Amino acid sequence: MIAGTTARTRIAVLVSGSGSNLQALIDASVDPHFGAEIAVVVADRPNAGALKRAADAGIAHVVVSWSDYSDRETFTTAICDATHTHDVTGLVLAGFMRILSPVAIRRYPDAIINVHPALLPAFPGADAVGQALAHGVTVTGVTVHFVDEQVDHGPIILQESAAVHPDDTIDILHRRIQQIEHTVLPLAVDAFGKGLLRVVGRRVEWSSL
Ligand code: GRF
Repeated sequence: MIAGTTARTRIAVLVSGSGSNLQALIDASVDPHFGAEIAVVVADRPNAGALKRAADAGIAHVVVSWSDYSDRETFTTAICDATHTHDVTGLVLAGFMRILSPVAIRRYPDAIINVHPALLPAFPGADAVGQALAHGVTVTGVTVHFVDEQVDHGPIILQESAAVHPDDTIDILHRRIQQIEHTVLPLAVDAFGKGLLRVVGRRVEWSSL
């Protein structure tokens, strides 16, 4: 602990991909006043680029391969066992492309945060950016929310919009959306770590420090 600061909330970050959102959290947590400390990074595949980012930052990282488990329940239990070992208070799904079983929600009630590349409840699921383009919306965005037992459904912590331009491709629009993710996910995780978020029904109440 740095002199003059209090212990930070320990979190696990779950990843599947390149880890640009993980990087945003790593960069934010360089500030000693950031509310959370990344205790461990968990990937569902050994080739996730995010693992290198964790290694480069000196953060513990483990692989819990989806293919090693027979069902969602045992896979989720293995993830929770790994995160429990690192004594974390919450999980952050940062581009984690698996659906956790309710086992995780019972272990971490109102303490699992997901970032989704659309303005929920529009365009849930894995192809949110493609769906937004196909639908012809002119505005989409980012939702950071707590995870409940339904996919891309839980109480919303933060949302921010992104314009859709007529000549956008999925890649161009996704890059614009990810830039926003890299700002709003750390904001939400900081607030969670500082204990500023309270779930009341479908709403998330923010208190100030
Ligand atoms: C993010 O855009 C996230 O919203 C989506 O997958 C992407 C992961 O990107 N579910 P990264 O691995 O954080 O770079």
